[in-house]
Amino acid sequence: MTVHFIGAGPGAPDLITLRGRDLIAASPVCLYAGSLVPEGVLAHCPPGARIVNTAPLSLDQIMDEIAAAHAAGHDVARLHSGDLSVWSAMGEQLRRLRALGIPYDVTPGVPSFAAAAATLGAELTLPGLVQSVVLTRTSGRASAMPEAESLTNFARTGAVLAIHLSVHVLDKVLADLIPHYGADCPVAVVWRASWPDERVVRATLGTLPAAIGAEMERTALILVGPSIGAEAFEESRLYAGDYDRRYRPVGTAPRFPE
Ligand SMILES: C[S@@+](CC[C@H](N)C(=O)[O-])C[C@H]1O[C@@H](n2cnc3c(N)ncnc32)[C@H](O)[C@@H]1O
Repeated sequence: MTVHFIGAGPGAPDLITLRGRDLIAASPVCLYAGSLVPEGVLAHCPPGARIVNTAPLSLDQIMDEIAAAHAAGHDVARLHSGDLSVWSAMGEQLRRLRALGIPYDVTPGVPSFAAAAATLGAELTLPGLVQSVVLTRTSGRASAMPEAESLTNFARTGAVLAIHLSVHVLDKVLADLIPHYGADCPVAVVWRASWPDERVVRATLGTLPAAIGAEMERTALILVGPSIGAEAFEESRLYAGDYDRRYRPVGTAPRFPE
């Protein structure tokens, strides 16, 4: 018996790995984390599977479900939205499973920042402009931010920030960012990337509040930084005709002769 932690992706049911889909189909128990896991993904569960929404459960109750499956020798598909490496609450579940000696494995998923960038048709790391992406959030009721991980500190780097769980405190986000990026810095907000009701607003930090209006949906990602929507950037050297590289030797004395 194994608990399979599976990244269920950002929303569209076909944005799940083949491995994740096959593990769901082979598991008689499926525990899924609330409304962000689409029904289309649950459709891969085998007939008669026990399917439990864990949103209203405590960690103890989730572990009770897993312990019961373990006692019955039933594999469990444990679904969380996006990828499991960020804000999935997987860490505390794995620690309990290790203590109990219950086997588990982890299958990655498409994270929401990647889905939002795909919606924008954007490469976030553009040569000469930005070479780092910071996945971050602001403090919530359930999770305080470590002091050094403030938006202000990250903004000082000029990197692209992919700000999760924060569209409801947009005023504070903008107040922290504008002194560093400037009011003209491009920003995009993507709500429910890859869902049928996905919505996108592109603006600058200065014009964003007016552009958003009274939108209340919280499942949104704020992407901010100089590469968002940029056209003025360098081409990468990797594909430059005169760039001598292992797979495309150039000139009479290539650096990597064949
Ligand atoms: C608890 S975190 C889960 C993050 C997830 N593990 C991931 O890999 O993206 C939930 C937050 O992720 C972002 N998010 C998740 N799915 C999204 C989507 N489809 N579109 C935009 N943002 C999304 C929102 O900021 C939301 O508040």
